[in-house]
Amino acid sequence: MENFVFQNPTKIIFGKGTESQVGSEVSQYSKKVLFHYGGGSIKKSGLFDRVIASLTEAGIQYLELGGVKPNPRLSLVHEGIKLCRDNDIEFILAVGGGSVIDSAKAIAVGVPYDGDVWDFYVNKAVAEEALPIGTILTIPAAGSEASIGSVITNEDGWYKRPINYDMLRPKFSILNPALAFTLPKYQVACGAADIMAHIMERYFTNTKDVDLTDRLCEATLKTIINFVPVVLAEPDNYAAWAEIMWAGTVAHNDLLGTGRAEDWASHDIEHELSGIYDVAHGAGLAVIFPAWMKYVYQHDVKRFAQFATRVWNVDYSVWAPERAALEGIRRLEDFFRRIGLPTTLNDLGIVDDRFEEMASKATKSDTATLGGFVPLNQQDIVDILAMARG
Ligand code: NZQ
Ligand code: ZN
Repeated sequence: MENFVFQNPTKIIFGKGTESQVGSEVSQYSKKVLFHYGGGSIKKSGLFDRVIASLTEAGIQYLELGGVKPNPRLSLVHEGIKLCRDNDIEFILAVGGGSVIDSAKAIAVGVPYDGDVWDFYVNKAVAEEALPIGTILTIPAAGSEASIGSVITNEDGWYKRPINYDMLRPKFSILNPALAFTLPKYQVACGAADIMAHIMERYFTNTKDVDLTDRLCEATLKTIINFVPVVLAEPDNYAAWAEIMWAGTVAHNDLLGTGRAEDWASHDIEHELSGIYDVAHGAGLAVIFPAWMKYVYQHDVKRFAQFATRVWNVDYSVWAPERAALEGIRRLEDFFRRIGLPTTLNDLGIVDDRFEEMASKATKSDTATLGGFVPLNQQDIVDILAMARG
């Protein structure tokens, strides 16, 4: 195990009806906030009205900025920054999924900066400060509710890029599993794939002697595997959603990566897909992750065999570890298909071949490699995309 520092200060407020506490939580930071949300699901579900009631009761003034799209856009971030500056807003409340939270984080880091906030996403500048944010989560998926990340798409060139800063962790996140009851099945499945990917990006490591975090990863994966089929059949099963929602946060709050090197190549490749084709992030991962696994598993057959036996109950023969490794990958793909996800680029409807372009964008014209487990160059990424074609 490697040396590490673990500090995750996000206050998690978990459970039924907890959104009614939002006013009193926000009032600890500011009496005037930006209320940021997405395309309208929160209005349909009644959450919007409950948030307004709680803010009003706590004497908090708010300005609204809705319209965040999945794969959140830089143009709306610019609008939010201007709104905050013009109205002296000091706190941002994000109500929605990863896209809304990431957009809020981008606004938060853009307000105190004189230049264009995109500078941070292309490593042209380093952010020094950010407004505080708080969240009410409506979909277990991205883990942004307790993460340091924000991923934004710049419509100029369709670049999707992340930033990571400790100061971007939300001050509080309200997690009421009942808010997920209204999710479309496809979004449930996309969220599941993203949560699993966050765990697997950490699981496939070259660091030795990390048995505790291996087992925490395996348990969290099994939670998703066990309970996602339950909520697909019974969308209002609170107990199952509670397991999934907490697993989604634990998967990406950095606990599972403590003391170990991580990978993240599949995420970087997927960001090129959702940047260009505007596919849901989880769906892109369900296509890329299995292809990545088939491409790299020989680097550490034992680790893949452990994944297969402990997570997927594959029968292991000491004489044929490679067979177990491949069976684990097959069962992962099979699970993705069973919950309604695409597992090939063809399934995603991507039939043109912009592999060179995506691989070049991801590796900055082959000057950088992706991934900590097996470093991948431009040609490796082209090959993985070709394997994912289907
Ligand atoms: O916009 P609305 O109308 O709210 O609809 C959303 C959206 O269409 C809908 N939805 C959310 N909650 C709902 C609901 N519909 C009905 N009932 C509810 N309770 O679901 C759709 C998807 O929402 P989105 O926020 O895009 O989903 P998700 O949470 O999966 O976020 C995806 C984004 O997060 C980024 C991804 O790249 C992607 O852009 N990520 C952020 C990370 C981070 N900040 O740490 C890490 C991740 O790896 C990921 O890259
Ligand atoms: Zn992700």
